[in-house]
Amino acid sequence: MSKMILISFCIIGLVYGSGVRGVEPNMAGNYDHIELFLSAFMNNYTHTQYNMSACLTPKTQASLDQILAASLGYLIFLDFEQVLQSYEQFITSLADACGVCGLNQVEMSLKQGISEKSKVWFEINLAYNSEKILSLVESLKGELELKHYIEAGGTLGTITSILIPFDAPHQLSLTFDQSMYLSWWKGFIYTLSINPKKTGPCNAFLSKFANQTVNPAMDISQLAQGKLSGFTTLFGDLASSLTFVKNNYTDVCMFDQLEANIIELLSKTGAEELFARYASRALTINAAIFNIKNCQTSFYACGQGVATLIKYLLNWSIN
Ligand SMILES: *[C@@H]1O[C@H](CO)[C@@H](O)[C@H](O)[C@H]1NC(C)=O
Ligand SMILES: *[C@@H]1O[C@H](CO)[C@@H](O)[C@H](O)[C@H]1NC(C)=O
Ligand SMILES: *[C@@H]1O[C@H](CO)[C@@H](O)[C@H](O)[C@H]1NC(C)=O
Ligand SMILES: *[C@@H]1O[C@H](CO)[C@@H](O)[C@H](O)[C@H]1NC(C)=O
Ligand SMILES: *[C@@H]1O[C@H](CO)[C@@H](O)[C@H](O)[C@H]1NC(C)=O
Repeated sequence: MSKMILISFCIIGLVYGSGVRGVEPNMAGNYDHIELFLSAFMNNYTHTQYNMSACLTPKTQASLDQILAASLGYLIFLDFEQVLQSYEQFITSLADACGVCGLNQVEMSLKQGISEKSKVWFEINLAYNSEKILSLVESLKGELELKHYIEAGGTLGTITSILIPFDAPHQLSLTFDQSMYLSWWKGFIYTLSINPKKTGPCNAFLSKFANQTVNPAMDISQLAQGKLSGFTTLFGDLASSLTFVKNNYTDVCMFDQLEANIIELLSKTGAEELFARYASRALTINAAIFNIKNCQTSFYACGQGVATLIKYLLNWSIN
């Protein structure tokens, strides 16, 4: 999937301080109780009890088993690049397996979490939680070595819930509060403006745009209900909505530049750049993420938070 994610794991690997690498592990997969591992994974990921042994085919179990065995080898040698590749493979296989098991919400959530659209948020979650993730990865390694599969499954489920927040089933309430929505946009535009006191053409365009109900509205209303999935899709939806109306306005916002910046960040050097930008503004960005996660407390601050991420991580502002 994404080089970017691989690279940030490598960066974490470096931070972690290991020089041991390059050993090709050849672990035999043979977890007696892969279904216990998976049930624990699901319980910690979704906070719902699942018995995965009832629906997974032996073939699927064997394939997940194999991936886990490889991951363990890579973890032992601290080869984070390979760990992440295995993790990605595991999530993809598990998502398919969940589809087969009728756990479509889990399938959707996992697939969405590693989709192109969510990539930037995955990265941000990783950077924001890097200390916590590192310590969980360390526990996972120990648990796998000791063959404590239930605990290991739970730990991997917890790691995944941080990187790819589970999108719990819920009724989408499309009749959200219009004034809260506009208040979100006010905060967003204020923070993103180069000069907030002076209303420039892009500022005016976005204010008008805010008056329309678009996809971000759904994401924002999800945040209002404390659903972090809104957080995951917000950026992608914002970008595509803004791109969608591109033809409808005279070139005042430099959306092309925004798109170019996103594309640049998805490149190899872009990932290092993103990490560097994050590190240099960690306090501001952490505060912004806090406000996004607590969107229901203040929609204005929440909009400001998203704008802060775009401003500093994507290097894009408006006039
Ligand atoms: C899970 O389901 C299997 C097969 O239906 C059953 O044998 C097993 O006891 C169940 N495990 C739990 C923990 O309920
Ligand atoms: C996974 O869930 C169990 C049961 O809720 C809990 O005891 C355990 O601490 C969780 N694991 C992690 C790593 O959070
Ligand atoms: C948004 O719409 C409301 C009513 O539909 C209108 O009063 C207001 O002026 C509009 N704001 C902008 C910035 O266009
Ligand atoms: C897009 O163009 C239509 C038709 O010219 C206009 O009615 C509408 O207000 C425009 N939308 C925005 C967001 O500018
Ligand atoms: C951010 O964008 C500005 C203007 O587009 C550009 O001059 C500057 O070099 C960019 N900064 C980074 C770190 O890319």
